[in-house]
Amino acid sequence: MEKEITIRKPSDMHLHLRQGDMLKTTVRDASAWFAQGVVMPNTVPAINTPERLISYRDEILSRNPGFKPIMSFKLYSGMSASEVKAMADAGAVLGKLYPAGVTTNSEDGVKSWLDIKETLGAMSDLNLVLSIHCEWPDTFVLDREYEYHREFAAIAKAFPDLRMVFEHISDRRSINFVAGLPDRVAGTITAHHLLLTLDDVIGANMNPHTFCKPVVKGPADREALRQAAFSGDKKFFFGSDSAPHLKAKKESEAAAGGIYSSPVAVPLMTQLFEEKGKLEKLENFMSVYGPAFYSIKPAESCITLVQKKSTIPAVIDGIVPLYAEKTVSWSIKA
Ligand code: NCD
Ligand code: ZN
Repeated sequence: MEKEITIRKPSDMHLHLRQGDMLKTTVRDASAWFAQGVVMPNTVPAINTPERLISYRDEILSRNPGFKPIMSFKLYSGMSASEVKAMADAGAVLGKLYPAGVTTNSEDGVKSWLDIKETLGAMSDLNLVLSIHCEWPDTFVLDREYEYHREFAAIAKAFPDLRMVFEHISDRRSINFVAGLPDRVAGTITAHHLLLTLDDVIGANMNPHTFCKPVVKGPADREALRQAAFSGDKKFFFGSDSAPHLKAKKESEAAAGGIYSSPVAVPLMTQLFEEKGKLEKLENFMSVYGPAFYSIKPAESCITLVQKKSTIPAVIDGIVPLYAEKTVSWSIKA
């Protein structure tokens, strides 16, 4: 008989659903595997007003009322306490800080936390979570995440009650950094940072489909991330950072950063945890620790995966997914 595992339906604590036509694809693929997801606000225009947050949430729900969007807003320099309060009243659970210029649609990001002191104070008072894309602009690309530690530590020190998430950890030094901070600080880990290294991006021919921010790093970094994911430490939980771009936008001389992993992340994580003898740690990492940190209910429903091979499509609605055309050894049970 095929090996099976049943877990609480996962929660994706960081994903990009995009807008318009692409929402049909992203919500369909995310909801097949995830009960809920933390929806990133780096749309164009950004989700930074209550009206936009509400209409974006309604648009997502209209695609599938069974998938719960956990809504965020994008911080901007000088955002006032009353503007933060209005976002919370509209249903925001977190605010996302993008340092200026580090990733897709972050040109209008924040230059220094000193420009958002009032914003962060209000978030702390309202018990909103601060989620950060931790890369310090204009430094060597493989050290950008490490270079952000100083800014992260300064914010953590200035706001001792603020819950903070170090998003998509990619550098082994960040694992120790997050582990050393109080329990109100956690970190998300993606499927691609657990599976790939820089060899998959530039080791052979340059592959734009494995290019994302922060860039995947070396084998020792990937190993440290794996150990954190397998550790059972509730500070580390899954956030896919699934970030689709159309094939033509990836296969261009200015390839956009972002990897589309929603359709494949759960079976790939199951495969990794199984291969490493850590299957008993899978459910907490994928489905429990994330919602617990956010004080959100985990899914009540479960999914069952069976050890049965399938081939990942080359293209899904114009998007090349993670592990395209490769085999994955787990599938959802029909
Ligand atoms: C994301 C995107 O495309 O929106 N890109 C990425 O490389 N991860 C933005 C982000 O999370 O950095
Ligand atoms: Zn992201």
